[in-house]
Amino acid sequence: MAAEQKYTRAEVATRNGKGGTPVWMIYKDSVYDVTSYIPQHPAGDVMLEEAGADCTKAFDESGHTADAFTIMNKYKIGEIVDEEKRYDANGKKKRKVVSAAPETSNRGCLRIISCGLVG
Ligand code: HEM
Repeated sequence: MAAEQKYTRAEVATRNGKGGTPVWMIYKDSVYDVTSYIPQHPAGDVMLEEAGADCTKAFDESGHTADAFTIMNKYKIGEIVDEEKRYDANGKKKRKVVSAAPETSNRGCLRIISCGLVG
């Protein structure tokens, strides 16, 4: 079986329906080509607000049922490249890695010394 097609978020952004491009969307790191589905969507063109974008939040906040997920699966064309994934292998949202700022200041040391001098 062929390896799953991988796309960067920048590539998906260029498929936003403008200038005759198809309409792609990202939902939880999977990429969907929903061009032909838009005319059938119960809420119509509102989907276009997410054209070329990550629709995860908008989709989840629109109260979709299991039916919507079944339909969505038919339009899957690939996945986001591993480096740009926001969900881990279990489908859980990855935590943002906040690197701890290295301790570059020696103010703490100075304070101890000056306290010693003053006191
Ligand atoms: C592949 C993507 C999508 C699929 C397959 C899809 C499918 C559906 C389906 C089947 C419904 C009917 C209710 C249900 O069974 O859940 C629905 C309703 C709705 N969708 Fe989507 N949808 C998609 C993307 C979006 C996006 C990106 C938005 C928002 C920007 C959106 C907004 C809505 C809204 C607001 C409704 C409610 C309509 C109403 O209450 O009359 N959908 N969608």
